[in-house]
Amino acid sequence: MLLDTKTVHALLKQYDCQTPFHLHFHDSLDSTNNWIKTLPITNDIPVCCAEKQTQGRGRFGRVWHSPEAENIYCSLRWPFEKEMQQLSGLGLVIAFSLMKTLKQLGYGKNMGIKWPNDILWNGQKLAGILIELLITPSKTIQAIIGIGLNVNSDTKNNPLTDREWISLWAIHGQKMDRNQILAVLLSELSKQIPRFIEQRLTPFLPEIAQWDLLKGKSITVFQNTHYFQGKACGIASDGTLMLEDETGNIHAIASGDASLKMPDNL
Ligand code: BTN
Repeated sequence: MLLDTKTVHALLKQYDCQTPFHLHFHDSLDSTNNWIKTLPITNDIPVCCAEKQTQGRGRFGRVWHSPEAENIYCSLRWPFEKEMQQLSGLGLVIAFSLMKTLKQLGYGKNMGIKWPNDILWNGQKLAGILIELLITPSKTIQAIIGIGLNVNSDTKNNPLTDREWISLWAIHGQKMDRNQILAVLLSELSKQIPRFIEQRLTPFLPEIAQWDLLKGKSITVFQNTHYFQGKACGIASDGTLMLEDETGNIHAIASGDASLKMPDNL
């Protein structure tokens, strides 16, 4: 079944979701994040989905594999007050909302969050989040929240040989209704993002800690030109990753790509 605005609207009504989402569904786009940036600013919350992306983007300039009519490629634009510090925690709140959605639908077993915002199942990537900030002349910052969730893709046809990934279909052996997953996700985001705006990351931390896949592990965090190694000791209230080095000093890491493995060429 294709994505359908009427079906998602009806489900959102059924879930009593009050957020004024404006759904824009397309057959094909270069990237839903790119498209939503071009929309004029309005008072609603635009949500853009595409059946396929021809230039789907991931973090660190990676390609996000986006085959047709299989998965969810979705971007939302959400306004935040410019004074709001610590938007860095937003990625974790989106990952938290994805986890809640998957649990609600009965798919949450063996899943967790790999800081800063990947959802993994048994070490394989199920979903990724790409947040970009648009600074406008008004009082608000517009956060472009891009979510890619692998739903019905066949992982045997995996073109991303360097990064193992997985889909809900490969885990559960049955095709899933993307409209329903999307409606549950949007309704979850409509609860969790306002909660983050009001209370920041603190109320999310206990559950995030339970789902933190890195905690207690020896990891490497890559940034553009360098990397840090140490033991992950959890996530702080500003969304930073606490990393203990070999001398016992704790470093707060604000961004990066975390890995449990040391690549051979380092
Ligand atoms: C990552 O894990 O590197 C982030 C992946 C984000 C992919 C989504 S799919 C919808 C939106 N449009 C894009 O081009 N990227 C994000």
